[in-house]
Amino acid sequence: MTMVSKDISKAAKILVQEDLVAIPTETVYGLAGNIYSEKAIKAIFEMKQRPFFNPLIVHIKSIEQLDELAKDIPKKARLLADKFWPGPLTMVLKKQEAVPDLVTAGKDSVAIRIPNHATALALLEALDFPLAAPSANPFGAISPTNALHVAEYFSEKLQMVLDGGDCQNGIESTIIGFENEEPILYRLGSISVEDIEEVIGKIQIKNKKENAPDAPGMLSRHYAPATTTFLESDVAQFIRGFPDEKIGLLLFKERIENATVFHQEILSKKGDLKEATSHLYAAMHRLDKMDLDMIVAERFPDFELGKSINDRLERATKK
Ligand code: TXA
Ligand code: MG
Repeated sequence: MTMVSKDISKAAKILVQEDLVAIPTETVYGLAGNIYSEKAIKAIFEMKQRPFFNPLIVHIKSIEQLDELAKDIPKKARLLADKFWPGPLTMVLKKQEAVPDLVTAGKDSVAIRIPNHATALALLEALDFPLAAPSANPFGAISPTNALHVAEYFSEKLQMVLDGGDCQNGIESTIIGFENEEPILYRLGSISVEDIEEVIGKIQIKNKKENAPDAPGMLSRHYAPATTTFLESDVAQFIRGFPDEKIGLLLFKERIENATVFHQEILSKKGDLKEATSHLYAAMHRLDKMDLDMIVAERFPDFELGKSINDRLERATKK
């Protein structure tokens, strides 16, 4: 059984012993291990059933630590780090020799961020090595946004989840890489494209498998409930076609009156995209446990964090 605990020194001890601990961050929980331990990094891939070609994100405690791990850092990357770290921005940069190939899946780049979560930062402070941490879910499944989600996924295999409460942002970090010093967005996430462009100007978006050979994790099916899921602009109309099914709805701000459905999840009654984002995965986890015939999600407005939500819902509905 996985221990769920707030004990930071206990977590540090397990990590020093080259074992794994799931850690809270402001985005989602991560499955963390010492980047310099081959044993720990292999265990991460194994526990998640993650293919070895898909590299991990390295979590550091301060901007000062960046130069240990990355080199030839573009000016725009420095600007973004100053503006958004600690925070839900991951940058893919040229790696230093010291970063093990296992962490980067043999690539000459490394993905790095400073998490903005007091517990995670205190843990990193207590360690003299950075932590590699992918989201703490089996490969392809919905990411965990509380300690219980993690414990349910890995109860047999994982020693400890460091409990840091519900994740404030609720979806993964935004990932930016650089090609010829120019920024490219590889994954939509917790920081909107609009907010990033305010700092460094227009960026290219390459977040689909087809156009992103440098971002091996951009699989079209991902973040997926086990229940068959649909993404629709007109949910009320769509569900009329399925009067006999046990249906759960995932909606932005309003319930659908008179709908003959089993359950409705509303992500933000006041129509706030940030609030909706923070509730998205927890709602998907709840719906997925109701033994439904189908989940029908509403398509979000296609700007700011609405874009990031639509991205996750599209991947959740892919076959
Ligand atoms: O919010 C987050 O980013 C969370 C928390 C725990 O920090 N982590 C997370 O990790 O979402 P993961 O492994 O689920 O997603 C990492 C993504 C993958 O799509 C991977 O392919 C990409 O980052 N990535 C990692 N290293 C890369 C590299 N060197 N070049 C391109 N993409 C990279
Ligand atoms: Mg993930």
